[in-house]
Amino acid sequence: MIVPATPEAIAHAADALRKGDLVSFPTETVYGLGADARNADALLKLYAAKGRPADHPVIVHLADGSAATRWAKALPAYATLLADAFWPGPLTLILTRGEGVSDSITGGQESVGLRVPAHPVAHALLSAFMECGGDGIAAPSANRFGRISATTAQHVEDEFGGEVAIVLDGGPCRHGIESTIIDCTGREPRLLRPGAVGVDQLTRVLGREPSAATPASPRASGSLASHYAPRTHARLLQRKELIGALGRLARPGSHIAVLAHSIDQPPSFEGTWFDAPSESAGYAQQLYANLRALDAREADEIWIEAPPDGPDWIAINDRLRRATHRG
Ligand code: TXA
Ligand code: MG
Repeated sequence: MIVPATPEAIAHAADALRKGDLVSFPTETVYGLGADARNADALLKLYAAKGRPADHPVIVHLADGSAATRWAKALPAYATLLADAFWPGPLTLILTRGEGVSDSITGGQESVGLRVPAHPVAHALLSAFMECGGDGIAAPSANRFGRISATTAQHVEDEFGGEVAIVLDGGPCRHGIESTIIDCTGREPRLLRPGAVGVDQLTRVLGREPSAATPASPRASGSLASHYAPRTHARLLQRKELIGALGRLARPGSHIAVLAHSIDQPPSFEGTWFDAPSESAGYAQQLYANLRALDAREADEIWIEAPPDGPDWIAINDRLRRATHRG
């Protein structure tokens, strides 16, 4: 059930988490589906609700960076630098796991993912949860495995129906795209998932660009070729390709749904047309809502105009590549 994130609702949600229930809550990136990270039964419930394979790890959310040492072994110097610069905020650090961190959090790997979210509701929930004896909230994005992430409480409700007893409504998420994930288990930082913290921001703090992931890097399901995917067949088309395809679109009876950011809807076009913002922050903020709304039209195909290639568009292009992957 969707409930406004009042202090009372947040206290009630913290209590529900302690009892082993699932709670969905807003973060500055996307909505999370939370479970008590120290409760094996609650984690089983979480995996079942998401339909996620048991060997995929989940991020542990903390109220405060100082709690990191309860979950991870000593942080390398560059990880401390990143935590100091970006926590609370949309950055997830993959660290060597500490004593007693269960396989159901780590997916059986030797690493644990940690993040301190900045959203006031997420922060209040985490603080209340800690106060009633909790230690961290495990929270993947609040969508079924492989599907489009949720950036409003209504998206979560659409995704899970009554299966999630409490969905705290904190309005639409500010970034609209998931946290950036950095692997901090090796000698140097590696970028596992581009996200809301840009590569240029990381580079400024680290003094160099983070390296790319290798086949030996810890597994991240967001790095699967197909992810964030609508049910409708979706294609990514370069601007020129899209203009050409629209020009040839004479087939009556076929319904095409378009997401464009630089092209105007041709007067003769009869399908569904969505204009996306032409700057990257606005585009990202609306991306999942747009994909969900396009998918709901049940068109024959979704055509997406490929965004620019600049550094601000890396995370968006990553999501669109996976959302449109077939194979
Ligand atoms: O912005 C976000 O990060 C959101 C909000 C709710 O915090 N969460 C999120 O969780 O995107 P999820 O589960 O949808 O994506 C987290 C990614 C997954 O690809 C998972 O495999 C990876 O992080 N991950 C988590 N723990 C890991 C670990 N120990 N090693 C490698 N990858 C890990
Ligand atoms: Mg996800």
